[in-house]
Amino acid sequence: MSIDKAELTRLYSLLDTVKDPEIGISIVKLNMISNIEKKDDTLLIWIKLTVPGCPLASTIEKDVNEALKNSGYSKIELTFGYMTREELAVVKKELYGNSKSLPPPIEKYDKKNVKNIIAVYSAKGGVGKSSIVAMLALEASRLGYKTAILDCDISGPSIQAIVGSQYHSYLTKDKKFEPLSLFGIKIMSISMLTDTEALIWRGPLVSNAIKQMYSDTDWGELDFMFLDLPPGTSDGPLTVFQSIPVDKILLVTTPQNLSQLVGKKTTVIADALKIPVAGIIENMSYIICDHCGEKMDMPTDSGIKDIPLLAKLPFKKELSTNAIKSVDTDIAKELDSVLIGLIKN
Ligand SMILES: Nc1ncnc2c1ncn2[C@@H]1O[C@H](COP(=O)(O)OP(=O)(O)OP(=O)(O)O)[C@@H](O)[C@H]1O
Ligand SMILES: [Mg+2]
Repeated sequence: MSIDKAELTRLYSLLDTVKDPEIGISIVKLNMISNIEKKDDTLLIWIKLTVPGCPLASTIEKDVNEALKNSGYSKIELTFGYMTREELAVVKKELYGNSKSLPPPIEKYDKKNVKNIIAVYSAKGGVGKSSIVAMLALEASRLGYKTAILDCDISGPSIQAIVGSQYHSYLTKDKKFEPLSLFGIKIMSISMLTDTEALIWRGPLVSNAIKQMYSDTDWGELDFMFLDLPPGTSDGPLTVFQSIPVDKILLVTTPQNLSQLVGKKTTVIADALKIPVAGIIENMSYIICDHCGEKMDMPTDSGIKDIPLLAKLPFKKELSTNAIKSVDTDIAKELDSVLIGLIKN
């Protein structure tokens, strides 16, 4: 049974007082109400959550009942669905507009017992950040440093696949996440906690996930924690730079002009947030011929002038086909000097 316009308007204004518990904006303004009907004396409301399986559905249900109970609606039935990517994009645009400005400052987490927190970052995707994080961590561990990796890529976590693991984390009796321990490295990623398909964009959700993994993982004492960042200048990396007490940023680029230029933009962010950029690791910089052993450089451009070039790594086809379990000597030599530079400064 449909509801007349006046009653519908009244219902929407009552529901306008219910806020999404995480975003803090009315569920009406977020376009979460997809339909309202009546069946006999029961009010039926369809609500689209911003993410499937949102744990806050029960809070929304309680708040909706609360908002309507004094207005004569004693029987209310809620049906939860979730938004499509397109619907989410509309909501996101309404929330953040096209603004490229930094999101509001968020809480800075404790340094904990971690001596060096190193964020590995590039504004451009696919340049080899995650692979380099895995190799840096392997080398740091081999050199005797207590080492961890925190995969801060919430929508596209890849560290587990790169190291060839299918581990699922669990809560210890102190209510901490037990990280994967592999080759002496402690590793935590959202892929160890849940099916991440759902975790798409929401600023608060991304920062909550990062905070939980950073704060609630049983890391112990560490010399190095490497942060594997998602690419781009969106909420994900900014959340990390703003909330985790990063000591230094390592930039990854490939020799092509474009990725270097995009890398340059990163320094603007780092400057704004006052995090030192240690330098650049140029990945897929050259290739060694399988037959004659000749070194062939990739075409390059002098690129960023003011940031030191710390290492040049070769293109190795095994890196794109196999899980990374050890580091070839030529790459190890380059990365070891990067590590020593990081720990000294
Ligand atoms: N030096 C290398 N030689 C050959 N292949 C490489 C090298 N470095 C990375 N790759 C391959 O390039 C692809 C992208 O690497 P990776 O996932 O590490 O990049 P990323 O910057 O973390 O990507 P994203 O921005 O999507 O997080 C992967 O298939 C990886 O195996
Ligand atoms: Mg990556």
